[in-house]
Amino acid sequence: MPAIVHTLEELQGIREAWRKAGESVALVPTMGSLHEGHKALVTRATEEADRCVVSIFVNPLQFSSDEGFDDYPRSLHSDEAFLADTLVDVIFAPTVEVVYPDGLDAVVTHNAGPIGETFEGASRPGHFDGVLTVVARLFECVTPDVAVFGCKDAQQLFLVQQMVRDEQMPVRIVEVDTVRDSGGLALSSRNALLDEESARQALAIPKALEAAGEADNPHHARSRAREVLEGAPGLDVDYVDVVDPSTFTRVDEGHTPQEVRLIVAVTVGGVRLIDNRLIHFGQ
Ligand code: PAJ
Repeated sequence: MPAIVHTLEELQGIREAWRKAGESVALVPTMGSLHEGHKALVTRATEEADRCVVSIFVNPLQFSSDEGFDDYPRSLHSDEAFLADTLVDVIFAPTVEVVYPDGLDAVVTHNAGPIGETFEGASRPGHFDGVLTVVARLFECVTPDVAVFGCKDAQQLFLVQQMVRDEQMPVRIVEVDTVRDSGGLALSSRNALLDEESARQALAIPKALEAAGEADNPHHARSRAREVLEGAPGLDVDYVDVVDPSTFTRVDEGHTPQEVRLIVAVTVGGVRLIDNRLIHFGQ
């Protein structure tokens, strides 16, 4: 059974004991409402290090005022039960005061830079500054050797890797493929907010990713995915695009890289969903 830790003092005591024993530590940052996608990260984390910490913290800094920080699902008791049969050592579930002791207004935020203002960042201004700020803070609290993130949030993963590289943070980032349900829909805590009809309509997202995967160049991939999403009932498309995975910049007409990441964001039944897939062309 994982230990539930709410304070920094307790966390750091445990961390110090692990350090003395020469044990390595993996961190899986989450906002809770855990599902099998999170569990895949946890499984990977327990393979990557001797000890595993899962943080559960709904970070106010990454929600804008109209984005429902208060409505974000919180379920610490069921999350504890969900992790009971795993090799997780510690669930770190701090309060806002523990993570930001000087208050939210006094936090020195990380700047996610120009890529932080595109795609998800264009629709959610400040979102990635908030994400990087909490990730850096969690790294300070836990001092992990390894941190595990999902490819489901590809732009987030890219920006975390960029921050770790630029700031020479002593942590290795490990990425895990997206876990999907039987219909192909990427698992997400937000799927719980979909009613039956919206859940059915959302299946156009994996269909669009699949159609794009059959294209023979990046531009066809983009247009095929767009066709499927725009033709689907009930979906409001925010963006469908292809980016260079190594820079997260848009692949423009005239460029035909061997590998692209197709990224999509849609709203269905009032719920914003994102997904992506890596597509290889040629042999
Ligand atoms: P959250 O949405 O809870 O996601 C936590 C981690 O789980 C992220 O790395 C995310 O990419 C991964 N994940 C979510 N759904 C997944 C799926 N279907 N398959 C595989 N991995 C999946 O992302 C956040 O929280 C926050 O922004 C956080 C990084 C914790 C900072 O607050």
